Amino acid sequence: STVITGIGSLVTNDPSLSASGGGTRGPRDPRDLLGLIQDAAVVVEGDRIAWVGESRKAPPTDNRVDAAGRALLPGFVDSHSHLVFAGDRTEEFAARMSGRPYTAGGIRTTVAATRAASDAELSANVARFVAEALRQGTTTLETKSGYGLTTRDEVRALRIAAEHTDEVTYLGAHVVAPEFADADDAAGYVDLVTGEMLDACAPYARWIDVFCEEGAFDGDQARTVLTAGLARGLIPRVHANQLGFGPGVRLAVELGAASADHCAHLTDQDVDALAGARDTVATLLPGAEFSTRAVYPDARRLLDAGATVALSTDCNPGSSFTTSMPFCLAVAVREMGMTPDEAVRAATYGGARALRRTDIGTVTPGARADLLLLDAPSHVHLAYRPGVPLTAAVWRAGKLAY
Ligand code: NIG
Ligand code: FE
Repeated sequence: STVITGIGSLVTNDPSLSASGGGTRGPRDPRDLLGLIQDAAVVVEGDRIAWVGESRKAPPTDNRVDAAGRALLPGFVDSHSHLVFAGDRTEEFAARMSGRPYTAGGIRTTVAATRAASDAELSANVARFVAEALRQGTTTLETKSGYGLTTRDEVRALRIAAEHTDEVTYLGAHVVAPEFADADDAAGYVDLVTGEMLDACAPYARWIDVFCEEGAFDGDQARTVLTAGLARGLIPRVHANQLGFGPGVRLAVELGAASADHCAHLTDQDVDALAGARDTVATLLPGAEFSTRAVYPDARRLLDAGATVALSTDCNPGSSFTTSMPFCLAVAVREMGMTPDEAVRAATYGGARALRRTDIGTVTPGARADLLLLDAPSHVHLAYRPGVPLTAAVWRAGKLAY
């Protein structure tokens, strides 16, 4: 076993563990979202965390790592990305920055490039992005299909995704495939996505997603897609209310989806639905609004209403070409009304909730040893020092990974 000692500030995400926590030390401070422990130590045994507490109380172990006063937190959980693709959309981005709006139409460009790419090329791309994310502290990431849009290409995307992560999402319903759209046959495509394509894809995926939006799928189509997935044992997640108001968020809550993602355009009714949802997390993706020059989601409004919030990258070549959780966290703090504590919690514990995982997102005994050591004395520096690489070390399942 290994002990990491001299941690200046440890984020456990378990308020009962912090110095202001319950027990003999009095009632816990409701502002302590992160379960902070100062001058802390963490013992890792195999792939798990065995012990967490104050440095001076740490049990003896074979190996010792001195954190030298720096901050340690759970590895980031990026619960929303689209990494299986080829090519990029540099010109589209540049045109957008000179005034063109973002639409779902650009997805076609990536579909064409992805279909034309070899398996090896696609897999190498995913590996490159997973490594890039790891260097920035991400130890778990979800990723989706959705740039194939034929049975063959969607299965291929999921198979390749599954080589790199356990959190794989079937997004055959990203947009209506070009062949069907050009024939004005959206219904035919929904039949394919919920029939032959679903049969072929279900064995490779844990989740099913749909882009419920103007220019993609309407509420009825989205419901058809998600209920078909549920019947095959896939758990829904929904691209909801990204570009405008719509039925996505309420549909997600109604069907017990694990998350409603984007949430940039919410009515009071949508906010109430998310606040009242037991199992549906509001996943906010600031990289998308940043890169499409759109209005950011109002995280403050969701948090004040009592919703569970996650932060993720949405990494994809069209709307958010970043793998950086620290970047998204800094934007969320600066532009979306989150405190640094809330943003760190949303990027770790929130993401774990959005993936319905209890083994990650916390630094507690029994949790998987996914840890991010910062070149900084506090987790607040993630927002306070935007754009600065602060990763000192990353452990994934107990192994030093960076
Ligand atoms: O989450 N909104 C739908 N899908 C992606 C963008 C896809 C693309 O533009 O290639 C998103 O933002
Ligand atoms: Fe997305």
